[in-house]
Amino acid sequence: MTESVLVVPGDGVGREVVPAAIEVLEAVADLEFVEADAGDRVKRETGEALPEETYRRAGEADATLFGAAGETAADVVLPLREAVDSFANVRPVRAYPGVDALRPETDLAFVRENTEGVYAGIESEVADGVTTLTRVITEEASRRIAEFGFDYAADNGYDDVTVAHKANVMRATDGRFLDGVAAVAEERAERDAAGADYEPALMDALATDLVVRPEEYGVVICPNLAGDVLSDLAAGLVGGLGLLPSANVGAGNGLFEPVHGSAPDIAGEGVANPAATVLSAAMLLEHLGEEEAAARVRTAVEGVLADGPRTPDLGGDASTAAVTDAIVARL
Ligand code: NAI
Ligand code: MG
Repeated sequence: MTESVLVVPGDGVGREVVPAAIEVLEAVADLEFVEADAGDRVKRETGEALPEETYRRAGEADATLFGAAGETAADVVLPLREAVDSFANVRPVRAYPGVDALRPETDLAFVRENTEGVYAGIESEVADGVTTLTRVITEEASRRIAEFGFDYAADNGYDDVTVAHKANVMRATDGRFLDGVAAVAEERAERDAAGADYEPALMDALATDLVVRPEEYGVVICPNLAGDVLSDLAAGLVGGLGLLPSANVGAGNGLFEPVHGSAPDIAGEGVANPAATVLSAAMLLEHLGEEEAAARVRTAVEGVLADGPRTPDLGGDASTAAVTDAIVARL
């Protein structure tokens, strides 16, 4: 059966890099694409950033490929991740040969809790000039992300698992997070499951250490906000946001998107780096069980990153279209 992929380009460069990724997917797999709207544009037209139909279709599709939204990102991405029942946001960060990376030895992956923390959406203005935010950390979600992170490390050949936290200050919430991880590690050790060893790391010191010694890290399991911030930081180690893919997975059908946003500073110029979205499409293929096609896409992207052409963010002067053509040519 042909699997159906919902395509949501969104705003800005999302409308340039998502079509590029579709071209690549069409070259390696037999998929049915259905397009839907979300983001600033549709909000201007209809008043709603995430139309009900897009939300419903994301829940029904076998997988969703999303580009980026602008100002409305939180109103689009957070519900979409929920629509696909995702509790884990996986963000691999790798330095590629040929790319001028600050830290060429980087090869790690963030496994970010995707449903709670400070992104649970509980904010209020309690008095004039006084605002509050409630940080939600549950035992269930902490255990679930730990189990996923250990499995991900074992399945992808990473020896080191680090758990980012700030339990010395946020004692109740990050204490709960760490307890959940510890309980899962203990259970895994008892049943001899792979990857039960881990290092807890204070997330502020971890930010420094990731820059200084990225090669010492493999999988980094993070509460929601920490994963968001640390993965963007790590993007700087390998050549920028134009290279970072992500997968929102867990119980359901998966949502795949570049880590970057709508990049209004370059949108419309046709020079956005398609690699982040094409690599997200490779993660989508893997999720659909098309491992061989996923590997072919990765190899083609790596080849183009090594030999060019390259977009301006990587020091080149090629267009999105030229880079996409070069990737497709290698397939
Ligand atoms: P951004 O990720 O859009 O851009 C940051 C920097 O990276 C810019 O200099 C941009 O030109 C560059 N960049 C991003 N993608 C690139 C690509 N494919 N090729 C080459 N260079 C690239 O983040 P920023 O500027 O903080 O946010 C812009 C808008 O995007 C905001 O409205 C924000 O709300 C939204 N946003 C949406 C996200 C989403 O939909 N998931 C995630 C992050 C931001
Ligand atoms: Mg972000």
